[in-house]
Amino acid sequence: MGRPNWAPDDIDIERPSVARMYDYYLGGSHNFAVDRAAAQAMVTAVPEAPLMAQANRAFLRRAVQFLVDAGVRQFLDIGSGIPTVGNVHEIAQRHAPDSRVVYVDIDPVAVAHSQEILAGNDRTTVVQEDLRHPERILGHPEVRRLLDLDRPVAVLVVAVLHFVAADDRPGELLRTLRDAVAPGSWLVLSQASADGRDDDERAEAEAIYRRTDNPLWLRSRAELTALFDGFELVEPGVVWVPQWRPEFSENTEDAEQSGFIGGVGRSGG
Ligand SMILES: C[S@@+](CC[C@H](N)C(=O)[O-])C[C@H]1O[C@@H](n2cnc3c(N)ncnc32)[C@H](O)[C@@H]1O
Repeated sequence: MGRPNWAPDDIDIERPSVARMYDYYLGGSHNFAVDRAAAQAMVTAVPEAPLMAQANRAFLRRAVQFLVDAGVRQFLDIGSGIPTVGNVHEIAQRHAPDSRVVYVDIDPVAVAHSQEILAGNDRTTVVQEDLRHPERILGHPEVRRLLDLDRPVAVLVVAVLHFVAADDRPGELLRTLRDAVAPGSWLVLSQASADGRDDDERAEAEAIYRRTDNPLWLRSRAELTALFDGFELVEPGVVWVPQWRPEFSENTEDAEQSGFIGGVGRSGG
């Protein structure tokens, strides 16, 4: 198969990418056979996988809407993914056109496709960087150009922390980000959790993701809550994502089937 024009030359299309697998779960078209095979293996092991991705996206949308309503106009979205429907800048700028959004992702396809859809939008940009190097993100000229870190910023780390190992010290990474932004800034976290899952399902999911560059690091609700250190959680705290400020039409029954926990916090100030 020829390489499609959205695929940068230097990417490995023989190894599944978590960004492209997630795109496949969400019904996107920026994925290769190797990604689809890995995602399908995941669906065999955990049939709810596509619904989990959708529940997480719905949480992201509600959280951004909540932040816009709270007056936030600056967003740093780390691990932003391959753009799909309802991206952060679309939600924020629809309601507050002056909102500024910086997307950050480690994946070249996510960055290339973001560049394409952001062309001509001078309040939005994308940077290829790694959450495990927050100082590089914070010092990046595009971040400095678009965001005023002396004023509150919403830092979004949504469906990414499960790719950050304990050895990479997620608490320290988040503290570096927190210390760099003005008091009154916000943190949105979500990630996959094994709470309530049976051990076989967990082991199969972990084995599938070990074939990618981003093995899975599942965390409990208590562990994710601890990562909000220095932020005050808004109600209802860290919950299964469908339970986080659901809209009228949302089904919150069997919320744990979403497999994702998440919350929103605000730093003192
Ligand atoms: C499951 S997607 C989440 C996309 C989006 N945040 C959402 O919630 O819909 C995870 C994204 O995190 C990116 N990612 C994984 N590890 C990363 C890291 N260390 N730094 C930056 N991005 C990372 C992947 O490339 C992928 O695009």
